[in-house]
Amino acid sequence: MIPNQWYIILESSEVKPGKPIGVTRMGEKLVAWRDTQGQVTVMSERCPHRGAALSAGKLKGDCLCCPFHGFEFDSAGRARLIPANGRKTQPPQAMQVKTYPTREMNDFIFIWWGAPRAEYPPLPWFEVIDHQRCSWMTLRDHWKVHYSRAVENQLDVLHLPFVHHNTIGRGNLTLVNGPVTEIKELPGGSLLLNLWLDNELDQGQTPLSPRQMSIPNRSPLLQFFFPNLWQIWLADDLHIVLAFAPVDDENTFVYLRNYQGFVTAPILRDVFNLFSAVGNSVIIRQDKRVVETQLPKRSALKGGEVLVQGDGPIIEYRRRRQALLEAAQVQS
Ligand code: FES
Ligand SMILES: [Fe+2]
Repeated sequence: MIPNQWYIILESSEVKPGKPIGVTRMGEKLVAWRDTQGQVTVMSERCPHRGAALSAGKLKGDCLCCPFHGFEFDSAGRARLIPANGRKTQPPQAMQVKTYPTREMNDFIFIWWGAPRAEYPPLPWFEVIDHQRCSWMTLRDHWKVHYSRAVENQLDVLHLPFVHHNTIGRGNLTLVNGPVTEIKELPGGSLLLNLWLDNELDQGQTPLSPRQMSIPNRSPLLQFFFPNLWQIWLADDLHIVLAFAPVDDENTFVYLRNYQGFVTAPILRDVFNLFSAVGNSVIIRQDKRVVETQLPKRSALKGGEVLVQGDGPIIEYRRRRQALLEAAQVQS
């Protein structure tokens, strides 16, 4: 995982008031819970006392209470009460659970994975998607892949006429011009990758190289926000968003949302969203079936694969990912 990034790890609805939830994300067992104000805390699931899972505990006021010996931990991970030592005794500083800077936005829960900072960059989000105004529905799925493979699949423009030959890749547009990729560094250092597709029927022509093409005068079809948020921009009011929550080196939890802003009548809207979700689930399963077979599980800049011109966006992703990994090593 690339350090020093905001990662989407859960949807808001998964962290219910009054009930801690245990999940594996970022290769670690974590627990997420809400305090009495609804603020979410994400912390290590392991109790520092004798290692019980805090996710099996109960909430007591603004503390999470371990199910084993009743130690109570606040949202900063500090022990506030050790029942066996009595209410009057201050718990020792060492009785501390590791917590992660946590934010909630647009019904996603983000954690900061990396060194703590005085000031954090803004949360990644596509400004063209108005979460409040659009309606949306989420599909959730578990993929047996490292999240980098899932990300790369969404930047892979070669696979459309093969993996999706009977859905979004109909028409046998196998020849890939470019594609044109642009990386934008946003305030705070966040990286946004824009991608324009130009696939054609192969009629014997030679595909244009990215250098022969310029940035088109239209919105990018695909956008990817490092480290794990992607969208396809189908129309101003129609977007599909994917978040790839890393579980561990071989597993990823996928959140797929279809956002739309043009069908607004209550029942019609729900029917439309349901049909979109069903259609998207067919497409995403076509991807999953192939991506789960890829080896090695985790992609790398020098991973021994023989890439071709149309793989440019994947190469760009790998380059940036490698640079971020190296920068984090230098700092730490
Ligand atoms: S293991 Fe959690 S309080 Fe003892
Ligand atoms: Fe696909």
